[in-house]
Amino acid sequence: MDYGDYLRRYQKRTTKSRHLFLRSQKLFPGGISHNIRYFEPYPFFATGAKSRYLHDADGNRYTDYWMGHWALILGHSPAPVATALARQVKNGTLYGVANDASVALAETIQKIMPVAESMRFCSTGSEATMYAVRLARAKTGRRVIAKAIGGWHGFNTTLMQTVNYPFEADEGPGLVQDEGQHVESIPFNDLEASLKVLENIRDDLACIIIEPFLGGAGCIPPAGGYLKGLQEFARRNDALFILDEIVTGFRLSLKGATKEYGLEPDLFTLGKICGGGMPIGVVCGNKEIMSLADPVSRRDKETRCAIGGGTFSANPATMVAGKATLDFLAKNEKVYGKIDKLGQMARKGLTKIFADAKIPCQVTGTNSLFLTHFAGSRIADATDVATSDRALLAKYHLALMAEHDIFFLPTKMGAMSYAHDESDVKRLLAATESLVESGLFK
Ligand SMILES: Cc1ncc(COP(=O)(O)O)c(C=O)c1O
Repeated sequence: MDYGDYLRRYQKRTTKSRHLFLRSQKLFPGGISHNIRYFEPYPFFATGAKSRYLHDADGNRYTDYWMGHWALILGHSPAPVATALARQVKNGTLYGVANDASVALAETIQKIMPVAESMRFCSTGSEATMYAVRLARAKTGRRVIAKAIGGWHGFNTTLMQTVNYPFEADEGPGLVQDEGQHVESIPFNDLEASLKVLENIRDDLACIIIEPFLGGAGCIPPAGGYLKGLQEFARRNDALFILDEIVTGFRLSLKGATKEYGLEPDLFTLGKICGGGMPIGVVCGNKEIMSLADPVSRRDKETRCAIGGGTFSANPATMVAGKATLDFLAKNEKVYGKIDKLGQMARKGLTKIFADAKIPCQVTGTNSLFLTHFAGSRIADATDVATSDRALLAKYHLALMAEHDIFFLPTKMGAMSYAHDESDVKRLLAATESLVESGLFK
């Protein structure tokens, strides 16, 4: 079978979704409310989700490896979260004032990650990273922010630079060049070249913000010493080191990448998992730096860093869902043993299948995260990902959906959840093998 056959099969079994997409196109630019949610020929429309499954409008049931942008570490609608949310919904979803549930979640986060000496809740990761770099500028009195080429920190204007390939080109209309002039990009995983760039800007360097693990840009772990090298440079030059743990926090381990890679960031950002499937962002870290945003002790706006939270910040529904998730993880650290093992099984199995078939392929990832790249040589940075055969990857992911009810958001990394088990991975491997045999990759 070739790709056309899988495409037709997908279209045949998603007719209701196609109609929903036609309606959607009249409502949303591109028919979607997040750019990456579109895929060819059109996305299916979800109507429900439970455990490791996503259900669509046509009654198809997919084993989900996208897991809500990798946020759902316990699967869809896990019992402890569903119970906490059901209780909270009857007791108010948005108080719009200080509330006890926010104290409880913050204390839980702090207990797990004592480096979160002080924090501020907001509703998205994009806000959290925007606030983090603003705090860095306020703290240092400097302007320049260094980020990785391909690094993704959300849609905030400040950090919307060198996100999409070709990375040296502007990110498009609406973002004026002046905004980018105080953002410098460094090549992920190349410490020597990164330090060279940083050396040139060190006098005006406010911070380095980095994902410990390139997530959106292609599931790439850091090379040994890379993150520590950046952290040391920031320390030596009175700049802040900010770790964006929005994907890795509570994912690589309960304590996240900070612990996993032995780092000591001045500030770090959290999101995704700690919202328990509800919207969240958290900017946190050193108490003294965070206190720059204290509106009580800094009444004078000349000394106060203007970071917010937003209408929905610390809403009790998110707070209780997040707390139920973190409590479960803290009590059941075996979750990590299980999902990491599944991740390892997927990476190993996929690597073998493609190697045996002599299809040039690299499977990247760590712990419970993984992604296949059709490329002959090692994948070490976002350029390697962008120049691999992304079209073939999209075809592979669509064929998995069409023929095997397995869902990856096309070209995006997969995440194991506690709701997955070995039989799912075996099914993924068998499905991949059968697609190889069908001739899809020829
Ligand atoms: C590392 C990283 N930072 C920030 C964000 C932005 O978070 P949000 O989508 O909640 O705004 C993301 C989203 O995927 C992310 O992966």
